[in-house]
Amino acid sequence: MTGNTFGKLFRLTTFGESHGRAVGCIVDGCPAGLELSEEDIQKELDRRKPGGWLASPRKEKDEVRILSGVFEGKTLGTPITMMVENRDVDSRPYEEIKDIFRPGHADYTYYAKYGIRDWRGGGRASARETVARVAGGAIAKKLLGMFGIKVVGYTKEVAGIECDVSGLTLDEIASRAEKSDVRCPDSEAEKQMVERIVEARKEGDSVGGVAEVIISGVPPGLGEPVFWKLDAYLAFAFMGVPAVKGVEIGSGFRAVKMKGSEHNDRMRWEKGIKFLSNNAGGVLGGISTGQDIIIRAAIKPTASIAKVQKTVTLHGENVDISVRGRHDPCIVPRAVPVLEAMAALVIADCMMLQGLIPRFLG
Ligand SMILES: Cc1cc2nc3c(=O)[nH]c(=O)nc-3n(C[C@H](O)[C@H](O)[C@H](O)COP(=O)(O)O)c2cc1C
Repeated sequence: MTGNTFGKLFRLTTFGESHGRAVGCIVDGCPAGLELSEEDIQKELDRRKPGGWLASPRKEKDEVRILSGVFEGKTLGTPITMMVENRDVDSRPYEEIKDIFRPGHADYTYYAKYGIRDWRGGGRASARETVARVAGGAIAKKLLGMFGIKVVGYTKEVAGIECDVSGLTLDEIASRAEKSDVRCPDSEAEKQMVERIVEARKEGDSVGGVAEVIISGVPPGLGEPVFWKLDAYLAFAFMGVPAVKGVEIGSGFRAVKMKGSEHNDRMRWEKGIKFLSNNAGGVLGGISTGQDIIIRAAIKPTASIAKVQKTVTLHGENVDISVRGRHDPCIVPRAVPVLEAMAALVIADCMMLQGLIPRFLG
């Protein structure tokens, strides 16, 4: 068994290492007849790419090429291969630490598992791999758009500063988040988040936070009980994103402090079922209710920091390390498009499993 393929009917396989020739993916199972261009993919990749003033200064254009599966602007129903070359590669800072395991990163575990690792830029454990997820997710998003389903993510919390989106529509959340340096739709919270990130960077440190993804327009009935319940599938997808340490759906961990009478989402009949709240986060019994699906990821502070830390080498020596290279002092803003992509892949797959997306689009 390998762990590089995701999905049951709408399937994504990713390949590539951070400082190798390229990263990319193969999407298999996408229905035929979907209008698709490189611009559709590029627009999502541009949202993830490094280079903002608060992010890693690696300057990648992340230009995607579609190598197969699309003809005359439409998908063929055959495997869609996409590739992004790694151009702005600087492996020198990694040369100095190639035998040293960075605390908090995957250097030690990759070595323990495979006995060999590409130490340049974190190799396969680098978030560079998530370029491929975002490319695959862009197709899923486009497909879902045809069925009225939208996926919107934003930064909910950074270093203990929480943002408030109450009263905002989904489109307002999306447009405000896109204009923000930290993808936070609340300008007051945004200012404080930026301060905390800048402060941490000055200290050679990093901070963590929470990203929230809202999926609207999902019909009731998606999810495959009992082991592939929709909430279980989404949690699996989110936990697989690098640096994610926890996942919450709907009320999440707040539910433990509520009474049943507070937590239950009451229902009324108004030309159909209407829920009066959404503590469930859009999923009951592992099946979508038709309400917005609300899912959050807890993201740890970036592992690679300049601050001196104790660690070991692969030869068993105790050493100190200060990690140089180009790193994000806070991962949350750049994780948002990756989490959106994973959410879109799950929903596209579930729509196909439920028979709601045909294999050939008219
Ligand atoms: C968008 C994104 C950007 C990231 N950038 C960095 C980074 O600059 N430096 C770093 O050490 N880790 C970064 N990470 C996290 C590491 O890839 C991750 O911590 C590492 O692979 C170990 O895996 P784990 O944290 O899931 O256990 C990033 C993750 C994401 C999703």
